[in-house]
Amino acid sequence: MTDDEDAEAVRRQAGGRESSRANRGWWDRNADEYQNDHGDFLGDARFVWCPEGLDEADAGLLGPAAELRGLDVLEIGAGAAQCSRWLAAQGARPVALDVSHRQLQHALRLNQGVPGLGDEGFPLVEADARALPFADGSFDLACSAFGAIPFVADPERVFREVRRVLRPGGRWVFSLTHPVRWSLADEPGPEGLAVLASYFDRTPYVEEDAAGRTVYAEHHRTMGDRVREIVGAGFRLVDLVEPEWPEWNQNVWGGWSPLRGRLLPGTAIFVCRRD
Ligand SMILES: C[S@@+](CC[C@H](N)C(=O)[O-])C[C@H]1O[C@@H](n2cnc3c(N)ncnc32)[C@H](O)[C@@H]1O
Repeated sequence: MTDDEDAEAVRRQAGGRESSRANRGWWDRNADEYQNDHGDFLGDARFVWCPEGLDEADAGLLGPAAELRGLDVLEIGAGAAQCSRWLAAQGARPVALDVSHRQLQHALRLNQGVPGLGDEGFPLVEADARALPFADGSFDLACSAFGAIPFVADPERVFREVRRVLRPGGRWVFSLTHPVRWSLADEPGPEGLAVLASYFDRTPYVEEDAAGRTVYAEHHRTMGDRVREIVGAGFRLVDLVEPEWPEWNQNVWGGWSPLRGRLLPGTAIFVCRRD
């Protein structure tokens, strides 16, 4: 068992299978703490896109909430599936997918006793976003709030898979850490305002154990890289949302804070359409 406290943070290469395997283990070990720390802010059945607190009920990035009824929606990197629970409440038919068994156990726990969900709830699928276990054209929409994309070495592969399982005209909307944050220290205070590394350095952030094994990996791309990945996979980029920090939000989430949020974007949300 890895003690994540003792892991060493380095910048070095980490491949596709290596990153997925490491992140599955990391999220299994850390799911309880994540839900404990952030569950209240996320809400059990809200669709919160980011630490800035942008709520899908206000933002409508998936389209008007009234038009979600009856749609098949895939949530990727769903964690405890808070977003899927909100989608189900709008009358959509969500499927929540995550690579971490422990995260999905939290989803199962939160599903129990939700009025209107029924005993079965909605499907929870344990799988890697790099190989989606669904037939072509299974979904009307796909979404992801900080799930999977920042953690995979080969996002082009995920985008191709999402395109494959979407029906023509379907939207693919996902959020991730704003690429500009990669050049700053990941700290919520003033020390997080200084440029420490090149924005253009795509070397992954890796945590490794004493034997040098990867136990966690995050992958950086520039804004331009992301646009090319999206277009290269056959999507049209419809909007790019950089949520501003709202006055009401005094929450600190890792490196996200009111101080930094008022000065710099912390999240990028890409709204794409499969033609
Ligand atoms: C920051 S959490 C976000 C969870 C949820 N969307 C939320 O907002 O709380 C990232 C999630 O992505 C999942 N994840 C990481 N790599 C993945 C992969 N390759 N395939 C599917 N899920 C992945 C993790 O297990 C974790 O639950």
